[in-house]
Amino acid sequence: MSNYSIKNLEEYFQVYRKSVREPENFWEEVAEEHFTWRKKWDNVLSWDFTKPEIKWFENAKLNITENCIDRHLLTHGDKTAIIWEPNDPKEDALHISYKELHERVNKFANVLKQNGIEKGDRVCIYLPMIPELSVAMLACAKIGAIHSVVFAGFSASALATRTNDADCKMLITSDGSFRGEKTIDLKGIVDKALEDCPNVETVLVAKRIGSDINMKEGRDKWLQPLLEEASEECEPEIMDAEDPLFILYTSGSTGTPKGMLHTTAGYMVYTAYTFKNIFQYKENDVYWCTADIGWITGHSYILYGPLANGATTVMFEGIPSYPDYGRFWEVVEKHKVNQFYTAPTAIRSLAKRKLEFVEKYDLSSLKVLGSVGEPINEEAWHWYNDNIGKKKSPIVDTWWQTETGGIMISPIPYVTPSKPTYATLPFPGIQPALMDAEGKELKGNQVDGRLCIKFPWPSMARTIYGNHQRYKDTYFSAYENKYFTGDGAMRDEVGYYRITGRVDDVIIVSGHNLGTAPIEDAINEHPAVAESAIVGFPHEVKGNALYGFVILKETGESRNQDNLRKEINQQIADKIGPIAKPEKIQFVSGLPKTRSGKIMRRILRKIASNDTSNLGDTSTLLNPEVVDEIISNSF
Ligand code: WTA
Repeated sequence: MSNYSIKNLEEYFQVYRKSVREPENFWEEVAEEHFTWRKKWDNVLSWDFTKPEIKWFENAKLNITENCIDRHLLTHGDKTAIIWEPNDPKEDALHISYKELHERVNKFANVLKQNGIEKGDRVCIYLPMIPELSVAMLACAKIGAIHSVVFAGFSASALATRTNDADCKMLITSDGSFRGEKTIDLKGIVDKALEDCPNVETVLVAKRIGSDINMKEGRDKWLQPLLEEASEECEPEIMDAEDPLFILYTSGSTGTPKGMLHTTAGYMVYTAYTFKNIFQYKENDVYWCTADIGWITGHSYILYGPLANGATTVMFEGIPSYPDYGRFWEVVEKHKVNQFYTAPTAIRSLAKRKLEFVEKYDLSSLKVLGSVGEPINEEAWHWYNDNIGKKKSPIVDTWWQTETGGIMISPIPYVTPSKPTYATLPFPGIQPALMDAEGKELKGNQVDGRLCIKFPWPSMARTIYGNHQRYKDTYFSAYENKYFTGDGAMRDEVGYYRITGRVDDVIIVSGHNLGTAPIEDAINEHPAVAESAIVGFPHEVKGNALYGFVILKETGESRNQDNLRKEINQQIADKIGPIAKPEKIQFVSGLPKTRSGKIMRRILRKIASNDTSNLGDTSTLLNPEVVDEIISNSF
């Protein structure tokens, strides 16, 4: 039996037990069996959750791109590594072989070096889903630079915050991007962001839409001519197992975004291992994850996990609704996709359309369907199972986080019997614990609590870039000696896990994590606003939507409310991005507060969800009278 590839339920239990009883041996075998090392480790794991400090495969030497590209060249250099499917179906798809990817990455790596990038430097990547994005990330990894990809839907202000937080000295972008029928002026957003980023010395600009853009003398350079001149040879930087690979930002409950730092060897081993098993990838399969690479799902399961397995991975530039709602299924048919991985919000939005959009296409290539990003509701699960999987492709409901680097709880298709809305069983190496309100672990089955992980796994983030204290406070302080996920979960009678949702002030809207604090900050910066509170409420397609309660200053009270709403929304779009705009904004005279001055979000959440029958005891509030007023004016 190989630890690397699990083939039936008995094997899963066997492997899982081993991974818990002798984790070091287990991971050592996985790492030995399947990867290329320049030097092997002296020690598999050392850890201390109180500091917290976690080290996997200590003193091993490697380069992740040798594992993702070079080692496949001898055996299948001509195999397609990346199928790039453009926004417009009339434009040709690209098939980039491993050989070609190798050349492209080397050239890009040389361009980075020529522009002063060295091992350890941070490079911000703000690109749409074009091949240059994958190549840029791998080029950074090749020379040991740390990439920090910022989703190209974020605003100038959000881009500036992230660029400065990681102290990036280079930014890679494109003239613009296509999004369905629209084009987006990415370079314009970058120019605005960089007004506040004095440390960015160089901007490399890929040409995608051919728009007329401003190029700042001495700072901005077109990428393509530099690539054409660059050498195809580039020696990889030899990295330590614990050298940083990338930073990726995620929202927190408070203040600035958290730059989760992932390191090299553990991340590689875990993403490759999970990819292989959770998608049951077989030689010559075509795998497609519809996420944007700007999110962790794209990092781990469009790029690194698939390439480390020598897979063919699809990279899609477009959106599910363009030119019509059949676009996903058209792409599945066109490229004969075998594994398809998407988000519940996409499933719900497609399930609302006529079935003809699905029935027009041949989906018989599909073998595995995946879901990620938020709990999948029963209705969406069945629609996906019936209409896309035709009841024969197992659905893997994969639970994980930016912080965890890879999938943590998920069925293994054709191995774990699935159950709608359940992420089912922990992956080998993952030891979940459910905690009660007193901080005690809930043992046994049929329990409901807060989800923690009590033993390290290779791909866990090692710190928050530049703020280790915040890393400790956020994840390792709520429960002693455990990593706290911020999610609630239940364990059913057979030990299957079901994730019930966030228990902190992060709201997941259309699969995107949004912290309430940064949105409130953006609203409060409006000159007419005194104070605000954002809560989530259930939404048919988005999963959750945002509801804003806003107190105006006296000067704002006389203003037209619709105009104010527009301005507030614009302010949020400028500060964070359009995804953070609330569905509803209600102006109120006060917010329900505890005597210590904390906003009672529980009450606001109930009002936003139109569920005011059981608000609990409001008499202990500082201002109970405000609750009735808010209810009577609510939407
Ligand atoms: C939620 C995405 C239920 C959860 C990979 C988690 C899920 C947050 C699932 C992380 C799932 C993700 N079922 N909830 N299958 N997958 N979540 O960092 O609340 O963008 O904490 O990582 O999404 O979101 P992130």
